[in-house]
Amino acid sequence: MNPTKPIARAASDKECLDLMHSLMAYRHEAIHSELMKIRDNYSMLHLDVLILIYHFAKFCSDAILEIGAFVGGATIAAAFGVRDSGQRKKLIVIEPGGSVKHKRLGTRNILRDLERNLAREHVANMVTLIKGQSFRPETISAVRQGLGSDQVGLLILDADAAKRRDIDCYRDKFAEGCWMVIDDIYGANANEKITLSRADVDALVKEGLLEPLGFYGWSTWVGRWCGGQPLHR
Ligand SMILES: C[S@@+](CC[C@H](N)C(=O)[O-])C[C@H]1O[C@@H](n2cnc3c(N)ncnc32)[C@H](O)[C@@H]1O
Repeated sequence: MNPTKPIARAASDKECLDLMHSLMAYRHEAIHSELMKIRDNYSMLHLDVLILIYHFAKFCSDAILEIGAFVGGATIAAAFGVRDSGQRKKLIVIEPGGSVKHKRLGTRNILRDLERNLAREHVANMVTLIKGQSFRPETISAVRQGLGSDQVGLLILDADAAKRRDIDCYRDKFAEGCWMVIDDIYGANANEKITLSRADVDALVKEGLLEPLGFYGWSTWVGRWCGGQPLHR
């Protein structure tokens, strides 16, 4: 992405400013240091993004779907949001597992570490973990079964570069206005993953299916789904 090029504008300025203001307010609350530990121990995402995931999970209607949980950083942030909402919300996460070389978070067994971390943070019983790739028919049907009649009010999408593929797999379950947190949108040395992710998100915005609310952290797009059914309130 060229940082000097104009970016798509769709959401109201007020909504974007409210989000920035909420983020600032959370920095003065206890959840800030709670999430800082989660970020340091388990997440590749920026702390600001984990705080927004917490915020959306706390206030969203309906269920939360995460694609690409890795060892649980964003999952735990979302679970804390659900916990602090005082409501029962389904939190369904998809992760195929494997190993990752990473200076801080390297692992030989993603699924083993994910399950251990969810248990360690006392959120394992809030999470439905679906082991598999997002686009496989058996994964899609497990997600549908888990959701039942619920719609998705927050999507956290941080898997591979195929953002549109994953959105297409689950879009009929997104509530109108479903919050979306999509990673891999920006990098100084734009690699293939970022170029493809960015192209998918830009196209969905152009088609009027996604509404941008801002860019946060290292590489994360935040916005809303505009192609779904009206929210049940
Ligand atoms: C960058 S990591 C996610 C980081 C995480 N959001 C965090 O808070 O640190 C991407 C994860 O997506 C998973 N993944 C890759 N392709 C996937 C797919 N098609 N479906 C589900 N998960 C996938 C990988 O195994 C990996 O654990």
